[in-house]
Amino acid sequence: MQKFIVTGGQPLNGEVQIAGAKNAVLKLMAAAALTDDPCVLYNVPRISDVAILRETMSDIGFEVKRTDDDALEIRASSAEWLFVPLEAAMKMRASFILLGPLLSRFGRVIISNPGGDRIGRRPVNLHVEAMTAMGAEVEYKNGYYFAHAPQGRLRGAVIEFPYVTVMGTENALLAAVLAQGTTVIENAAREPETDDLVGMLCAMGAHIERPAEHRLEIEGVDRLRGVTHRVIGDRLEAGTFAIATAITGGDVTMRGIDPRHLAAFLAVLECMGVPHETDGADGGSLRIHSAPGYRPADIETEPYPGFATDLQAPLAVLMTQADGMSTIHETIYEDRLEYVTELNKMGAVIEVLDDRHARIAGPTPLHGREVEISDLRAGATLVLAALAASETSVISGVEHVDRGYEQIESKLVGLGAQIHRIDA
Ligand code: EPU
Repeated sequence: MQKFIVTGGQPLNGEVQIAGAKNAVLKLMAAAALTDDPCVLYNVPRISDVAILRETMSDIGFEVKRTDDDALEIRASSAEWLFVPLEAAMKMRASFILLGPLLSRFGRVIISNPGGDRIGRRPVNLHVEAMTAMGAEVEYKNGYYFAHAPQGRLRGAVIEFPYVTVMGTENALLAAVLAQGTTVIENAAREPETDDLVGMLCAMGAHIERPAEHRLEIEGVDRLRGVTHRVIGDRLEAGTFAIATAITGGDVTMRGIDPRHLAAFLAVLECMGVPHETDGADGGSLRIHSAPGYRPADIETEPYPGFATDLQAPLAVLMTQADGMSTIHETIYEDRLEYVTELNKMGAVIEVLDDRHARIAGPTPLHGREVEISDLRAGATLVLAALAASETSVISGVEHVDRGYEQIESKLVGLGAQIHRIDA
């Protein structure tokens, strides 16, 4: 077990390179399973979720190797066993993204139910229903889905999701590109990470159109080819560093992102009185230079292009420093306010009204405390609070942060923060 020791109160200044997006790269790795040609991904973040998927894909029989510091080569010429075990699903929910490509390419797979986690129930019924609509037979037994395509190949279908599901859309997409005939996905996600996947699949030879914002139309093909593809920058890592800058009163430029992906988040920062400048599009930058006296805000999380649920908890830290009452309405998950207990220990005054609503009074000074991380974004939230706190904080559960943030402490140290990791 490792812990972060953070001494707050230092303004962050300088420049930071944002890594490739976790929520894109995992799906791009899964896409590489659709062809026997090699695929090379660039801008691959060094995070533990990538390591877990890499190991899971290697166990299946694919060759997955780092060819450069930021490059990953995947060659899925043959599969030894079409099995995704419980061990992988327990470590990372996103292992379920292998359902669509394995079923579509090889005609069968046995895959563990990833189950719920600390932020909500997170069922996978919509992923399974999408496969069934495409003709798969899926049986659930002892915690595993046994799925197969009766004629060896899935067939196109109309899939109407009742609400937007990001990985549900991506699993359906990964299955549909090799299915026979046309698939239409209604209420499809339009997250930048989903579009990154669409871009890679099209480069591989897939036929995908987005005739309306939330509709995807896919004409299945017989074969896909290998590609080289650069993963988009991580808007959630950038958002986290933006808040770190604002709460410490610093001036930081984040490079390697498309600032347009942060439009809803930046609109909230604007309302709160956090000055910022953006430059360029893909491969662009965002500069935050703080000014004293933030205003409160009311936010509601939504699928893209709305305010991202993954930045809800981090923003709560900034809200504790605003002058007045802020409110949060979490619409995506039923249990994503768990971080509040730990934040209140540090001096925040946050009232949880029910599973989805919270009210945050500000400004309240934050203090160094011993706190524990419950999930990835709650981890980033506690690190942010510790950077803003007077005194030293001891934060345990750092493995949750390593799932999605590449070398968070060395990047923060590079900007002037006092943070280090210890073995405990
Ligand atoms: N849902 C169902 N049934 C399903 C699938 C989803 O009821 O079969 C529900 C979920 O329980 C949730 C809602 O639909 O209430 C939306 O969930 P979604 O499927 O969109 O989430 P996801 O695809 O599992 C991805 C990200 C999450 C991010 C959400 C929402 C990845 C690997 N994960 O999850 O990222 O919060 O979209 O934007 O892409 C994170 O990075 O910290 C993280 C949790």
